[in-house]
This record gives sequence, C-alpha cells and structure tokens, in this order.
Amino acid sequence: VPGTLLHLDSSADPSGSVSRRLTDRFARAWLAAAPGRRVVRRDLHTDQLPHLASSAQHWAPGLRAPGETAPAEADALQRLLIDELLGADVLLVGAPMYNWSVPSTLKTWIDHVHVPGLTVGIAPLPLAGRPVVLVSARGGSYTDGAPGALPDPQLPGLRILFGTALGMDLHPVLAELTLASRLPALADRIPDAAASLAAAEREIDRLAATLG
Ligand SMILES: Cc1cc2nc3c(=O)[nH]c(=O)nc-3n(C[C@H](O)[C@H](O)[C@H](O)COP(=O)(O)O)c2cc1C
Repeated sequence: VPGTLLHLDSSADPSGSVSRRLTDRFARAWLAAAPGRRVVRRDLHTDQLPHLASSAQHWAPGLRAPGETAPAEADALQRLLIDELLGADVLLVGAPMYNWSVPSTLKTWIDHVHVPGLTVGIAPLPLAGRPVVLVSARGGSYTDGAPGALPDPQLPGLRILFGTALGMDLHPVLAELTLASRLPALADRIPDAAASLAAAEREIDRLAATLG
C-alpha cells in the first residue's frame, strides 16, 4: 500500500550527525520497501521555524477565548505543519539530545503541532496508532545500569507527547555514547558506543521493513 513518510531532522551537525545518518538509513530503506511510497522531508535545522507567535496557537480555533488570536501568517504556518503531520502514514523524527532535552528547533515544531482540539484531547485521536520512529543520538549513556548512566531525561517526555497525548505507536531508536571517541573521559566506552550504534542500525532496518 503506498504511503507517505514525514521525515524530520533537527541535528545542528551537518556532517557527522548520528541521528541524521540513522533517519536517512530508515527513509531510504522504507522508500525502497514498497512501490509508490513518498517522503516529505522537513529539516528543522536548515529551515528553522519561528517560535509560537502567541499562546493562542496552543488551542484549536474553536477553543480560543474571545480575543485570543494569532497573526494570520502564524496560523497559516501552523495549519500547514499540522496538515503535513496528519497526512503522514509514518513519522520519522531525528531527535538528538541537546542539554537533556531536544534541540529547540524540534521543540518549536512540537509546540506547533500539539494542539488541543486539533491533534490531542479529542476522540478519536486523529493520529491514533500511527507509527513514529524516534531516533535519538546522545553523547552519554542513559541506559539503566550502564556505568555512569543518568536517568534518561528525554525519552519519558517524548513518550508522553507522542504516545499518551497524540496516541501514536512509538518506536524509539537510541544511539548512545556518541561522544566516546571525542571525550578522553569516555575513551574506554568506545566499544559500547559501537555496539549501541550497531543495535540502532539493526532496529532501523527492522522497522523500515515492517512499518507502514
Ligand atoms: C548543544 C548540544 C547539547 C548537548 N547536550 C547533551 C546532553 O545533555 N547530554 C548528552 O548526553 N549529550 C549531549 N550532547 C551530545 C549530543 O547528544 C551528541 O553529540 C549526539 O550525537 C548529537 O546528535 P547528532 O549526532 O545527530 O548530531 C549535546 C550536543 C550539543 C551540540
């Protein structure tokens, strides 16, 4: 069955990005796995969105209080982003860990599309059950029980957003310790980083062959 993949990237690294490498791997394999498929690409770093113009944009037009408005061009951009998301059969998100969160470029996209009355808080949820492949590269390790690992500060929030609020079928793919080859303090973790990347690549290949 033909379908549409919405492919988002947000890494600010144009050449060595691990998340970009993994999302690219998914998009190519997914596209090749069935005829008639298409990819809509949105690079949130090279083509940056503005921040919300007004908190009015957090609400569907029918849920805005009297006088709660946003500039017409801000509303139009938001509608376009939401339609792009609603039109996707599969969502692919490159989400590096930046300061224990996501890049602000991706956060801005999230702020535009998580809208009570349009994408969340209504029955049925328009994106219910739709797959989302979430690729997160992180410099350190956040795997329970790994040496020096902190609790993952990023994935739980994204689970609430994509899984609980939007109702999507979330498939996280994590590549950890990407800074092991760069930071002397992490040099002894280079094999762990390689193993994490290899596992992420296998999971990408599995998902590309089975989703959508
Ligand atoms: C602005 C910035 C903030 C970062 N903050 C974190 C962090 O909080 N925790 C972490 O483990 N790594 C952090 N890193 C490292 C990145 O997560 C790591 O380099 C990752 O591979 C980036 O994704 P990319 O390879 O797709 O560009 C940060 C890197 C940058 C550039």
